Amino acid sequence: MTQQDPSDGIEHLFADTVRDTMGSAVYGDWRSIHNADAAPLAFGFPYPESFPNEELAAATDSLLSSEPERALQYGGGDHADGLRDLVVDRARDRGIDCAAETVHVTNGATRAIDTVCRTFLEPGDEVVVEAPTFMGALGIFRNHGAAVTGVTVDEEGLDVDALADDLVSRAQCGAAQPKLVYTIPDFQNPTGVTMATDRRERLLDLAERYDFVVLEDDPYGRLRYEGSERPPLKALDVDDRVVRVNTVSKTIAPGVRTGWIVADETTTAQFDRIDAGGEPSFTRGLIDRYCTDGRLDRAVARLCEGYERRRDRMLASLETHMPPSATWSEPSGGFFVWVEFPEGTDAEAMLPDAIDAGVTYLPGTFFYPDDGGRRFARLSFSYASPSAIDDGIESLARTVRDRVSVTGGKNG
Ligand SMILES: Cc1ncc(COP(=O)(O)O)c(C=O)c1O
Repeated sequence: MTQQDPSDGIEHLFADTVRDTMGSAVYGDWRSIHNADAAPLAFGFPYPESFPNEELAAATDSLLSSEPERALQYGGGDHADGLRDLVVDRARDRGIDCAAETVHVTNGATRAIDTVCRTFLEPGDEVVVEAPTFMGALGIFRNHGAAVTGVTVDEEGLDVDALADDLVSRAQCGAAQPKLVYTIPDFQNPTGVTMATDRRERLLDLAERYDFVVLEDDPYGRLRYEGSERPPLKALDVDDRVVRVNTVSKTIAPGVRTGWIVADETTTAQFDRIDAGGEPSFTRGLIDRYCTDGRLDRAVARLCEGYERRRDRMLASLETHMPPSATWSEPSGGFFVWVEFPEGTDAEAMLPDAIDAGVTYLPGTFFYPDDGGRRFARLSFSYASPSAIDDGIESLARTVRDRVSVTGGKNG
């Protein structure tokens, strides 16, 4: 037996995947990018007044009185059981043909992504992501020991031609092909862009040809403020290649974090098996009870009004204050605007000055699997009030101008 240094405690017993990733950033570290005096454009949180406190309290009362012996029991009662049917109805509204047997309920989308990784990935497997992408997912892929590479995103979403080129060149040099391609097709985090329908079709053709799973993550799809819906990838999925993840974190509240995965029946049975025993049945019953009588649809309509107002305010403020050499995305929904600062700007290095000036944001580098994104930042319009958004963008523009010594906004 090897002699261990006693000060090492039990660290030497850590799994290799933990040892290999111990020094990496912790998801949630970005919460420290906060200052009480600065406009909070860093957080992708729902705005506090959006929370349905009274309705959730009423649903709690109703659940406890209608199922007093089962609502808090292991497994839960009828409402907890009913959540899968609710997901099926919602999915059908978006053109996805599924059944209760193809729905696996999870403790949120983040956990759902983890379940998908536990089901499909071995350490060393290749995962392709949009570059930039949701940093929470990047962390999960890394924790599973995956080799993560990025494919660019433009105004029409994932650049599927660039993905095709990547797959062809892997085939030509005998390199491993990805097992999983992760995408956020609607109102992507962090860019706010939506994938064009023809790209969605092409992506599914590539999945069939090169034999990979498409992991579709769609937390913002129902938060559309203009334009017409695109079909979810799962709705186009004739070959059962798509595993679709969703959550109520953005449409009800993160505090009742409940999510689900829609996949084929065989895969769903494995999700059920490997996750068995961890479910908070009361929260599931509560979500189902809350969503009855069209309450969720009414809530989503109200949320869209609140977020649209904030988005409009951010876009108008950017137009008024930013120097002409900055550009930004114009999302039709979701929570985020992606800004490209003028040449020579390093968004990470500029952040302390921006906070002093009165605004927080997340530097673009947080969202890349490699070292991309230096000139970019994610601005979230979901959390701050419209007037704080105005103040924040004005402060940001001032900081950028000071940094690059340019004068004058787009409007003078
Ligand atoms: C693309 C994406 N997926 C998943 C999540 C997290 O979902 P949940 O709160 O259900 O874990 C977020 C937001 O935080 C997100 O932007």
